[in-house]
Amino acid sequence: MTIASSRRAIGAAVWVISLTACGTGSAPPKLANPPVVSTPITVQHAVIPAPSSIVMATGQSFLIDSSTTITVDAPGAQRVEAQHVADQLAALLWAPAERARRAALAAPSGTMQLTLDPAHVELAEEGYRLDVTSTGVRILAATPAGLFYATQSLRQLLPVSVEYPAAAQRVLRVNATTIRDLPRYEWRGAMLDVARHFLPLRDVEHFVDLMALYKLNRLHLHLADDQGWRIEIVSRPNLTAVGGSTQVGGGAGGYYSQREYRELVAYAAARFVTIIPEIDMPGHTNAALASYAALNCDNTARPLYTGTNVGFSSFCVESDSTYALVSDVVRELKALSPGGYFHMGGDEVKTLTPTQYRGFVDRVQGIATANNMRLIGWADIAPARLSPTTIVQHWSKDSLALHVARGGKVIASPGSKTYLDMKYDNATTLGLSWAGRIEVKDVYDWDPTLVTGATPESLLGVEAPLWSETVTKIADAEFLAFPRLAAIAEVGWSERNARAWETFRFRLAAHGPRLQALGVNFYRSPQIPWP
Ligand code: ACM
Repeated sequence: MTIASSRRAIGAAVWVISLTACGTGSAPPKLANPPVVSTPITVQHAVIPAPSSIVMATGQSFLIDSSTTITVDAPGAQRVEAQHVADQLAALLWAPAERARRAALAAPSGTMQLTLDPAHVELAEEGYRLDVTSTGVRILAATPAGLFYATQSLRQLLPVSVEYPAAAQRVLRVNATTIRDLPRYEWRGAMLDVARHFLPLRDVEHFVDLMALYKLNRLHLHLADDQGWRIEIVSRPNLTAVGGSTQVGGGAGGYYSQREYRELVAYAAARFVTIIPEIDMPGHTNAALASYAALNCDNTARPLYTGTNVGFSSFCVESDSTYALVSDVVRELKALSPGGYFHMGGDEVKTLTPTQYRGFVDRVQGIATANNMRLIGWADIAPARLSPTTIVQHWSKDSLALHVARGGKVIASPGSKTYLDMKYDNATTLGLSWAGRIEVKDVYDWDPTLVTGATPESLLGVEAPLWSETVTKIADAEFLAFPRLAAIAEVGWSERNARAWETFRFRLAAHGPRLQALGVNFYRSPQIPWP
């Protein structure tokens, strides 16, 4: 592929930033074993995830000043979406009055030009070219997503001050740079467990913003578990009225109305993030079992549950009432989910026989198909009679190989590499440790095919789940997710030979001030030479 060969060709032409480790920032962690960070290392850029190829020219730059304007060139069908990407770039650069002034100035050809041309099939669904020269910025993509990802790379080439609300007359310098970029995997995800502890809509939107900065494109929402049901199902009001009324530890819980959920789906779509709804079943269902007596084989509603045990609950898999409820839920989620995915969970079922369990999964797959939804489940579901179009998500020692053998697609979420709720080290107070203590290097330095045993053809990509037994608020979620999620983003986007821990840690260090500017409560890992 030409992009890979251009990486090798750039050799000595790169503009080299020398980053020298010099301390751990404004909130240094207490270190039991401070790492050795005294060796200066050179990195070529601080873009995360690492692009397929990037060349920075020496001594040349472009100034974004009071005369800079943005123009968009796109075919009719995609013009609105392309313009929306340009508007988001303008909102990053300028205050509202400045944006209006520059829109009025807009020349046929601005000094920043976004071109969407579907004929550039080599850029595929998400690739882009970004050229910054001393006279302007040129972006080319075949899709609106590609344009958006180019603007995220440009954002990371700009000074951190761009992350603060724009001053009226701000001048920003960006070094002359050429990027050619394509993602390795189509599925680059994170998961929030809003069931164990509920997160308000604005917090989830904030998380989407941070995902977009790192070109992540799937947000899986774990919307129901033993402790809470978090999405309004109009035909089944008790699910939220009863099942949504509490959470781990006995707090007030909460849920998203369908109006709010639609708002979130649109907010995420504008940032090229697809929301994946999960309703875990047949286990992890106590909140539903408390809401409707008929879901229990003894026709008795269960009490609400606010502890953190797993494996004790199950729908009555012999009862028609169960499948009537699942049909209502899937039908209503279909209407809310332009992405077309339905995640059925399916993990950790300890009270059913294997035959009962497989029969249940078969029936839910039928319901998803009847509603034109593509089914996803944790890899526990693989022994059922799955269609090859169903997607299986690996998380533990599980049956992934069965699904690979039938030609199915898989997502890599190995607990020991991607579980963001695992503690960083012995000193971390938040989080769990059953899959290990996972520092930034552990999350970064692995290969999804090698760790999961999936074939390259079967692997859709990677996803990092953040379970919330100990996570009560967004600041907690930020602490566990960042900076590990930036590392996962690079595992998902960058080719294996384009990434190396020794350069990543220095690029990541340069993101400390940016995350700080964005108000993110990130973990100051001692493995990273923060400035
Ligand atoms: C899981 O962690 N139980 C999927």
